Amino acid sequence: MGQFMNYSLYNPHYGYFSKHATIFTPGEPFDFNNIEDGPAFNKLLDERYVEFEDKLDETNYDETRQLWHTPTELFRPYYGEAIARYLVTNYKLTLFPYHDLIIYEMGAGNGTMMLNILDYIRDVEPEVYQRTKYKIIEISSSLANLQQQNLNHSIHVGGHGGHAEIINRSIFDWDTYVHSPCFFLALEVFDNFGHDVIRYDMETGQPRQGCVLIDSDGEFYEYYVPDLDRSAARFLRVRQAAARRPFTTPLGPPMWRKLQSALPFAPNMTLPEYIPTRLMQFYDVLHDYFPAHRLIASDFNSLPDAVPGFSAPVVQTRYQRRNVQATTPYVHQGYFDIFFPTDFNVMEDVYRAITGKLTRLTGHDDFMKRWAYLEDTQTRNGENPLLGWYKNASVMITV
Ligand SMILES: C[S@@+](CC[C@H](N)C(=O)[O-])C[C@H]1O[C@@H](n2cnc3c(N)ncnc32)[C@H](O)[C@@H]1O
Repeated sequence: MGQFMNYSLYNPHYGYFSKHATIFTPGEPFDFNNIEDGPAFNKLLDERYVEFEDKLDETNYDETRQLWHTPTELFRPYYGEAIARYLVTNYKLTLFPYHDLIIYEMGAGNGTMMLNILDYIRDVEPEVYQRTKYKIIEISSSLANLQQQNLNHSIHVGGHGGHAEIINRSIFDWDTYVHSPCFFLALEVFDNFGHDVIRYDMETGQPRQGCVLIDSDGEFYEYYVPDLDRSAARFLRVRQAAARRPFTTPLGPPMWRKLQSALPFAPNMTLPEYIPTRLMQFYDVLHDYFPAHRLIASDFNSLPDAVPGFSAPVVQTRYQRRNVQATTPYVHQGYFDIFFPTDFNVMEDVYRAITGKLTRLTGHDDFMKRWAYLEDTQTRNGENPLLGWYKNASVMITV
């Protein structure tokens, strides 16, 4: 199942990322101080969306194009500046003057975060800028090209030559040991990492792993086996050992299960639970190759309209500019975005167990209250979309 999802999303020939994924960019940054209120911002955003897609259609018409919007893009450059402030402050407190400021960003979309951070450091902290190196690790070759184009353009307008590098590679193929202290950004990337699926036997409580078979007509058949593969088994073990607080699974208390299974037509297995095996492997990469990293990760902690199950994904595509939601992840490969919420309470403990580092977990809004200049994103009536949007996102940082 994990492999099925990885292929659906990342296969270089038909994978969703290689073919249909586009990240919305609003063009000129929004002038929040001159927008009346939240609804006026939404309206303006809708208009920019239409303009953006009209322009794309002129060169490349795609009925199933998926458009993401991310805080980096909606609130550029202010969101990037907040992250830059966090980076520079922590760099100066602990690493300056003995080390350079080295920033890795995994999964950089249009490259906007890189440009916003480098612009900020160049303009506000010139002595730090001299010593700043920014490296992107990007799986998608089309996005890596776009990032390079955007970087070249910025060099044209006077910036960043020699400070940035774009490496077109999946983080899971990374094989270079980075001994220097560095910051590692992962913004809205965890949600697309492949998961495995587990259901528990109602009678014994034992986990079974989901597999999928595709027949010659392209029909999908899902089945469950009692032998878990190594990474699924390891995830369950590590989670159990690392947990500092109780976590929920579809397997309720034994008494409740007994009652459930006594009911007529009771299912013999629980609802599915989607487990983030790829995210655990990403922590291994950090531990093995970036021993002196400090992580700054932000992602969704819950998602509306997910398919049934625990930590279940949203599976959706867009057809002729309309969102179409699916009720199962077993969908035509490459045409659907499959994205998961991250249970940060669990994944913070797993990160600590694998890397041996300590962390802090906050809401997106709390992080922004601390590091953003909130007046930049305030509308005329005092609302603040930077705080109001992405309420379901968390920020996890290494301390
Ligand atoms: C939802 S986009 C977020 C882009 C950007 N961080 C932002 O917030 O605007 C996810 C990004 O992660 C990249 N990505 C996904 N899996 C990756 C992997 N295994 N290694 C490197 N990049 C990856 C995608 O190609 C894309 O650039």
